[in-house]
Amino acid sequence: MNFAFTYYALAFAASCYLLYRVIGRLQLSRAKHPSLRGHSNWARRVARLIPFFSYNDAAFFCSDGAPATVVEQRRHALSQLQHSFETECAKTLAHCRAIANSVSDVRFTSRYRVPFPYSNLLPACFKLGSMADETSGSQIKDLDGNWRYDLSGSYGVNVFGYDFYKECMEEGIARTRALGPVLGAYHPLIAENVDIIRKVSGLDEVSFHMSGTEAVMQAVRLARYHTGKTHLVRFCGAYHGWWDGVQPGVGNTRKARDVYTLADLSEQTLHILRTRNDIACVLINPLQAFHPNSDAPSDTALIASDRTNGFDKQRYTDWLARVREVCSERSIVLIFDEVFTGFRLAYRGAQEFYGIQADLVTYGKTLGGGLPIGVLAGTHGLMQRFKDDQPVNVSFARGTFNAHPYVMGAMNIFLNRIRQHDIQQQYRASESLWNDRVARFNERLESEGLPLRITNLHSILSVLYNLPSRYNWMFQFYLRQAGLELSWTGTGRLIMSYSFTDDDFNQVIERFVIAAHQMQADGWWWQSPALTNKAIKRQFLVDLLCARFPFLAGRLSGPLATRHEKPCSGPVADQDQYSRKVG
Ligand SMILES: Cc1ncc(COP(=O)(O)O)c(C=O)c1O
Repeated sequence: MNFAFTYYALAFAASCYLLYRVIGRLQLSRAKHPSLRGHSNWARRVARLIPFFSYNDAAFFCSDGAPATVVEQRRHALSQLQHSFETECAKTLAHCRAIANSVSDVRFTSRYRVPFPYSNLLPACFKLGSMADETSGSQIKDLDGNWRYDLSGSYGVNVFGYDFYKECMEEGIARTRALGPVLGAYHPLIAENVDIIRKVSGLDEVSFHMSGTEAVMQAVRLARYHTGKTHLVRFCGAYHGWWDGVQPGVGNTRKARDVYTLADLSEQTLHILRTRNDIACVLINPLQAFHPNSDAPSDTALIASDRTNGFDKQRYTDWLARVREVCSERSIVLIFDEVFTGFRLAYRGAQEFYGIQADLVTYGKTLGGGLPIGVLAGTHGLMQRFKDDQPVNVSFARGTFNAHPYVMGAMNIFLNRIRQHDIQQQYRASESLWNDRVARFNERLESEGLPLRITNLHSILSVLYNLPSRYNWMFQFYLRQAGLELSWTGTGRLIMSYSFTDDDFNQVIERFVIAAHQMQADGWWWQSPALTNKAIKRQFLVDLLCARFPFLAGRLSGPLATRHEKPCSGPVADQDQYSRKVG
């Protein structure tokens, strides 16, 4: 009797525990974004199944089912554009070609500048990165003397214009030159830097690192060390540097056992934060407000015209306030990753812009005054790398080049300069200035009848495409020809700086309009009733299936199958002229 009772009691307890675990797991699954971005293991599996394939010469120009006249128009336009790049940028291209095989960054960006099926046949001069030897005002010059407005923003470092940073670097180095490369001992300028960063961050202590990635690593490590909890929460699509600990999923074999990738702006996420006991920290990239739950927009993903960036400040602010509240309730460390937004959105960065105080804040990019930097600011309690009552339980984190004298010098000039009245005034006016400029930009696009729209979060702009098209990625090259320099990610992110005057901005609009008219005239935005975003994506899927299962080629035809030739040539090896064959 007793034995039976114990047996049933144990079985009941085990079932309750099992049920509890299953419910917890289900709740966690619901808090993940339903897309593959929210499910890193599945994303990895699916990525392995997607084969490389390349459109053949005919399909390259008519993958949207365009008629022969349009195909000829496009073919001619591409060769004209190629000719103009090859002649006007000959020296720049020669230098780029010289490093294309030996700098892995260039090999990567050259391949992922456009959707991959078009990459092999696109002439190399379109894909190669640029080289530059001078900047002035808001412009940058390539090796052939072509000046272009710089919308690449040097990955976000350039907040105040290149001349500003040249001054920071020159003056900063002049002030620290006598010490040279001494590390370990600090240059005295560090004290003032720390003092200003403490005021900007609203926090007690600062540590210096070499990059934003390192600052994020240190923030997460300290959060785990002090809370004794294992997991970090990041939001779907958010970028926090290239450390594998914050990039679970595709291209990373590290098991995502200590990371939860949850949905932004989601009640289920708040529920998870409220109920789980293993969460050490929540990592927020405040730029994610521009494209919640999506990756940073780039032209390599421009398969169709369904890019949907947009910024709703009130909604995101409310969301952050709720995350802040639950983190405080549950003793979860709230980390603002301000590597991109710091000193850009406002003097006090995203914390000021959204009115939220975080527990740890990472900075980088612009704060180095033009030199490499990562900074972590936090409360005394969180920044401590040892435990008062456990003398050997230390969290050892230092780095050889931390607080390099030249970096401290350039940072000091930067921090003092931006405290001055003129820049403080610019900060205050900046949000409405950029919103007004973008509104003007859109009015112009509309009055020109162009199928484009610009969205923005402050000085970060993105291009949206109003008509269904498979060729929007071509636009980046028309912009380049019209004198606008973009980063390798293309039209997804145009990063402007405070150095753009109204005249500069008008020039950008003019060049943009010229480029768009040319693109239109060259037939890339040709339309037909069959050409919808849905049809484009279905066609892409069919092409993908044909490449994966070659026996389907010829049997399966998508909604945009061309009248000229079958659109997919099956998997082919990468035959870029400049890529070396291995083995
Ligand atoms: C929000 C954010 N965090 C971290 C990083 C990584 O910084 P870094 O490239 O200096 O390592 C970046 C870089 O773009 C970033 O935007």
